[in-house]
Amino acid sequence: MAGKEPEIITDKNQMRKWSRAMRSQGKTIGFVPTMGYLHEGHISLIKEAHKHTNLIVVSIYVNPGQFSPTEDLSTYPSDFHGDIQKLMAVPGGVDAVFHPHNLYDHAKSKPTGVNTNSSNYHNSGGGGEPERKGVVSCVEERGLGHETWVRVERLEKGMCGKSRPVFFRGVATIVTKLFNIVEPDVAVFGKKDYQQWRIIQQMVRDLDFSIEVALSINRSLSRAKSDAENGQINCMELRNSVIQAVNSAGGRIDYAEIVDQETLEAVEEIQSPVVFCIAAWFGKVRLIDNLEINI
Ligand code: PAF
Repeated sequence: MAGKEPEIITDKNQMRKWSRAMRSQGKTIGFVPTMGYLHEGHISLIKEAHKHTNLIVVSIYVNPGQFSPTEDLSTYPSDFHGDIQKLMAVPGGVDAVFHPHNLYDHAKSKPTGVNTNSSNYHNSGGGGEPERKGVVSCVEERGLGHETWVRVERLEKGMCGKSRPVFFRGVATIVTKLFNIVEPDVAVFGKKDYQQWRIIQQMVRDLDFSIEVALSINRSLSRAKSDAENGQINCMELRNSVIQAVNSAGGRIDYAEIVDQETLEAVEEIQSPVVFCIAAWFGKVRLIDNLEINI
């Protein structure tokens, strides 16, 4: 049954004004950032947000800053009308949907000599600054006048950061912008993308945002977990069995890593809490999943 219709806000100043007005009435604001095309995972984040705050804001914005020019931003799926219907069906509903047209479009100044080759992003190694030459994300490719980026330098390096070098820089930057605009009390992220969640948690701590970062949803790599619980602590063995299962299901592994929950560094044997993170291609679709193992 359809519930209340959320207020749809497209202007960032309007969004900020809405949040401030609500807070001045003593309301607390829960925030779920999304790129739209909502599914059950997003709905579970909204349900989680309802446990923390009076009001809920969902943002729907496909962020060009986290796509490199070789990734197809223009074919990213969207169904705004369908999304609103889904939000109306959530118990307790959603109070506002922030749906900006473009959060980088404050000035245009296409640099000369723009190069659309994303391999021009080089990490210099040794923990230093990356060497940036030419375009690194769709924001630079479009010649938008944006040049400030938030980077969580160590946590962004491995796993998804390896295969998508501009991804976490774009996520950290847009989440910072969204936090500044929506000014929520609590923000909820899916633990499905464990690295993203850890990066945002770290960013909130390092940049002193007074926002609580909550999380939801967890799927299972349950066989590896039960093997580990039954004494198999050798990570190579655990990884091999999952890789084999993915391959025999027709997938192609991007990475399968068992890493320390705090540092995200790979471990050889499970001696402390770890998380098993996996990304695999099934045709043109890249899926990610993770499971914490606490033994
Ligand atoms: O997880 C996502 O959908 C996106 O990375 C996010 C957090 C909405 C930022 O664009």
